[in-house]
Amino acid sequence: MNAERPGIAAARIVFPSQDREEIAAMIEAALAAGALTLGALTEEFETAFAHRHPGPDGPLHAVAVNSGTAALEIILRSLGDPALGLGGGEVVVPTNTFYATAGAVVHAGGVPRFADVDARTLALGPATLEAALTPRTVGVIAVHIGGLVSPDINALKAICDNRGIWLVEDAAHAHGSRFDGRSAGSFGTAAAFSFYPTKVITSGEGGMIVTADENLSNDAKMYRDQGKSGFLGGDHVRMGYAWRLSELHAAIGISQMKRLDEFISVRQRVAGHYDKALDSIDGIQALTVPDACFMNYYKYLVMLDPSIDRDALKQELREHHRVSLSGEVYAKPLHQQPILAAFADGPLPVAEAVCRSHACLPVFSDMTDAQADRVVEALAQAVRAPGVRR
Ligand SMILES: Cc1ncc(COP(=O)(O)O)c(C=O)c1O
Repeated sequence: MNAERPGIAAARIVFPSQDREEIAAMIEAALAAGALTLGALTEEFETAFAHRHPGPDGPLHAVAVNSGTAALEIILRSLGDPALGLGGGEVVVPTNTFYATAGAVVHAGGVPRFADVDARTLALGPATLEAALTPRTVGVIAVHIGGLVSPDINALKAICDNRGIWLVEDAAHAHGSRFDGRSAGSFGTAAAFSFYPTKVITSGEGGMIVTADENLSNDAKMYRDQGKSGFLGGDHVRMGYAWRLSELHAAIGISQMKRLDEFISVRQRVAGHYDKALDSIDGIQALTVPDACFMNYYKYLVMLDPSIDRDALKQELREHHRVSLSGEVYAKPLHQQPILAAFADGPLPVAEAVCRSHACLPVFSDMTDAQADRVVEALAQAVRAPGVRR
């Protein structure tokens, strides 16, 4: 069926040709100058990112690194001991996040403590956070799943402040997102963004730390470059690593930063299209995005009725309609991942249900209304196909 129609990919990386030319020119200049790491392009990328993700009192400090995972580990190490990192302290992590959120805690010398989430936001809520706190808790990582900054974020911060522990944002999904007019990345002590190729904007590989704390930002610059006290030398004073971003990657990031607002507005248009159309599809409900949330729609999340078999739905869409759904966020909670089993402490039922029963519709930064219509048509038919309903 529909074999002659073009397929709809789950996601797509968008580099208009003028951007490719601009990036090539920046890379050419960097190669000609022999400036390949931690140079002017990295600084330009940091400045552009900081200006687009300000705090309530103006631009934050931004430190570019070579992955979102590195950004997380550097923040966590900066909040701990220069040599021992977190020294065995517990860090609350929502269980429905990417491996790297918890992996960074372990690599920074901490112990992840998995928490349940609120089904309305897929994020930690005040009650699920409180339930996970122990006398050993040193901090909390809030994850903006799919690009949604939860309206509970200020309440989470207040709980952390009352306990004298820190809040870090894993903003890997949340470039450009806001809650109540305030940018993702400005709510906690520091935030980690990712520029992995699937993200709303990419630098090929890369990550960014943002923080209002100048000391943390200075620390982060040491950590990213082998813990050296200065770029051109000096003693090793932090347990750093090779976390530098190359100038070539920074060139890609600079170019993508200029597209961020445009990409988000395309994604929001597609989301608006889906919102309206899904009302008439039985068994599939869009995640409600509260009015105060400006969402970048890294993912367009829907909740499936328990009668719908997600794997069968995906297969039906792929094989009979040439429509691919994008990867879930996430299909299996971290407390059920084999390598993290040692940190698991009983079931987390809401997150388990969310992981089982959501799906992510295709969305990309040059998607057309016609493509969104195709997805909706395909969904309307696929949910009625034999084998899709249990
Ligand atoms: C929630 C989350 N945290 C952290 C990361 C790690 O980022 P990176 O792949 O750039 O290391 C990712 C994704 O890739 C992510 O989705």
